[in-house]
Amino acid sequence: MSEESLAKWLLTGMGGILGWGIRQSLPPRTFAFAGRVRPSFWPDAPGVRLDLAVPGEFRSVLEMLKPEVVVHAACISRAQECADFPELTRQVNVAAVEEWLTTSTSQASFPLYISTEQVFDGRADSYAESSPVCPLSLYGETKAEAEALVLAAGGAVVRLPLLLGPEVGIGRCGADSAIVKAVRAGQRLPLFHDEYRTPVAAAALGPMLWQIANRRLPGVFHLAGSESVSRLELGEVACELAGLAPNFNAVSAVDFDGPPRSLKLNLENTRSREVLGWEPPNLRQSLAWTAQPPAEETTSVQTEES
Ligand SMILES: NC(=O)c1ccc[n+]([C@@H]2O[C@H](COP(=O)([O-])OP(=O)(O)OC[C@H]3O[C@@H](n4cnc5c(N)ncnc54)[C@H](OP(=O)(O)O)[C@@H]3O)[C@@H](O)[C@H]2O)c1
Repeated sequence: MSEESLAKWLLTGMGGILGWGIRQSLPPRTFAFAGRVRPSFWPDAPGVRLDLAVPGEFRSVLEMLKPEVVVHAACISRAQECADFPELTRQVNVAAVEEWLTTSTSQASFPLYISTEQVFDGRADSYAESSPVCPLSLYGETKAEAEALVLAAGGAVVRLPLLLGPEVGIGRCGADSAIVKAVRAGQRLPLFHDEYRTPVAAAALGPMLWQIANRRLPGVFHLAGSESVSRLELGEVACELAGLAPNFNAVSAVDFDGPPRSLKLNLENTRSREVLGWEPPNLRQSLAWTAQPPAEETTSVQTEES
């Protein structure tokens, strides 16, 4: 696959920590991204304007670029924002996905959809790639609806856990950096002692995503870390590695005054280990990547031909 044809890979939703993580693992000139603004960490990749809140825009972009692969991560991802703006959320998180999948271009395009652990309710000890979805929030519900559309179209769904990484923009950072930043600013943070996740470094994900897309592997994959930790434990280890004294107020997620929260979202990586060779990093390995992501040249894009 030449660089020119790689440019026909279209990425959406690259403005957050996932986009930063993806940027660590490949030369930007090989991809085009679509979004509302150009993220500072994608300075030289070709970009095209896309607002998913506007019906028809995704279709126009797809018809213009005719991408061979679409990695679609853009969505309204904050549970409170979803609850506050349900119609907009349905447009951006579901209707736009339907528009993407029903747009016919001259060539078949492989759909890779970025989803979330939030499609589960947290009542089970852990969730396999084959576990039935059971979302609690509108955010999780819309992501689960989009997943079903992508799977019906023969695409891949990649479910991610809580992502770790540095601050990459205003209000855009890994969960660890948000905590460290607040502690550094002298805040005493309330952190859940009873909400468990299997967090992973955003910088670890790119090579796995490229592999799924290059091999056109349909179905669900989980790319989570190997350890289940509470937010409080995450904060303690993140502070330790940053050389800061932890300054937290341990609170219960049960008392959270907001959209319903799943208490225990532990993703199993069974299929991704078997099919992709994914080796889930533990918490300290992932946190180390926040400070020092893998060098660009250490991870290369594998193509069908290579
Ligand atoms: N962060 C996590 O811990 C986490 C965990 C599990 C799964 N995920 C998944 O990972 C993906 C990326 O999340 P993230 O945290 O890196 O990003 P994010 O900070 O939530 O940003 C979302 C991205 O979607 C884009 N977007 C939102 N509304 C849009 C619209 N109307 N039109 C076009 N683009 C729009 C944003 O564009 P702008 O830059 O223009 O705002 C941004 O690039 C999402 O699919 C999310 O479900 C994230």
